[in-house]
Amino acid sequence: MDGKEVLFMSKGDGEHSYAQTSTFTQKVASLAKPTIASTVDSLLEEGFFLCELLNVADLGCALGPSTETFMSTVIESVQKKCAHSNCSMPEFQLYLDDLLGNDFNTLFKSLSNFSQNYESLSCCIMGAPGSFHRRLFPRNCLHLANSSYGVHWLSQVPNLMSEEGFPLNKGRIYISKTNPSVAKEAYLAQFRADFSTFWKCRGEEMVDNGRLVLILNGREDKDSASTDGYFFWEKLGEAIADLVSEGGFVKEDKLDTLNVPYHTASSEEVRSIVDEEGSFEIEYLEIMGIDRTLPDEDPHSRGRKMAKDARSFTGSIISYHLGEGIMDKLYGEKLPIIIGDDLAKGRRKGISLVLVLKKHVP
Ligand SMILES: C[S@@+](CC[C@H](N)C(=O)[O-])C[C@H]1O[C@@H](n2cnc3c(N)ncnc32)[C@H](O)[C@@H]1O
Repeated sequence: MDGKEVLFMSKGDGEHSYAQTSTFTQKVASLAKPTIASTVDSLLEEGFFLCELLNVADLGCALGPSTETFMSTVIESVQKKCAHSNCSMPEFQLYLDDLLGNDFNTLFKSLSNFSQNYESLSCCIMGAPGSFHRRLFPRNCLHLANSSYGVHWLSQVPNLMSEEGFPLNKGRIYISKTNPSVAKEAYLAQFRADFSTFWKCRGEEMVDNGRLVLILNGREDKDSASTDGYFFWEKLGEAIADLVSEGGFVKEDKLDTLNVPYHTASSEEVRSIVDEEGSFEIEYLEIMGIDRTLPDEDPHSRGRKMAKDARSFTGSIISYHLGEGIMDKLYGEKLPIIIGDDLAKGRRKGISLVLVLKKHVP
């Protein structure tokens, strides 16, 4: 499965859209505001005050409010710094990137208030459709980039068939505690290749000392022992396995050949790939754990909400592989119970790796 051909977040602005259901990434974007603000400060201190135009990109922006949170944090941080240093505001060129299947129409419609808020500034917003696993911008043009909750998506599913044609990750759709090590190694190898290409491309596009803020879903541990790093995919795999065992809904070979193009990396994996590729240095790395449940919340009502949210970001991949016909049963009946039962046993955290990286001066 080629990730970039198939993947998109639920379109439009209705109840089930990514715009309405992406509360978790919106929370992450909000928590990352101080990091973005201090990154803008460090960038301007590098001498970028003299720039008349700041080129800023949001890579893998989707269509939810997180991109607006990022852009307004950048503009307001620059405003504050310019007021403090008594210098004139630059113009802004904001590029919004995502894959071709992204609902850019809904995204741009939702930004009309944003444009009004900053009417007094010179601020141009442009779509930049295409995969961030290749070059998107000319050389040496970006000053600042952000990528939140996009880079854990792989460009393709790793090859998980044996030479004899047997599925190597039978009965699962991602890695977990009990996977054969060959599956873990294949996922890591694909992530390594994609993540390295990401840095090589950004290294060419960004100016020297430019900054990139990266937030990705990750793991706390080195060896996938904690379930938090792959919670959704494990529960989704179990829900699909239930539909197989109930007969008729999903054929077993469909489950055995379904693997998702996603990797929750550990901070060690991230650090080693960035260092090896060499275009950027890591200035800041934080492992952020956010409780998936609220205090005293009924686990089954949280399970229903999480299953609905999960449909908005996993639905395109699953319906491509298993067909639209099972989607209501899977996300509306099976998954809410499986997640709810798991939450009833204990708390679960969503793990985010938050990094600030600086482009090396050669
Ligand atoms: C979970 S959404 C996150 C959206 C937004 N940044 C946020 O924080 O809510 C991940 C986005 O990354 C995009 N994405 C995944 N792989 C990509 C790639 N290779 N190039 C560009 N965008 C990609 C997906 O299409 C999706 O819209």
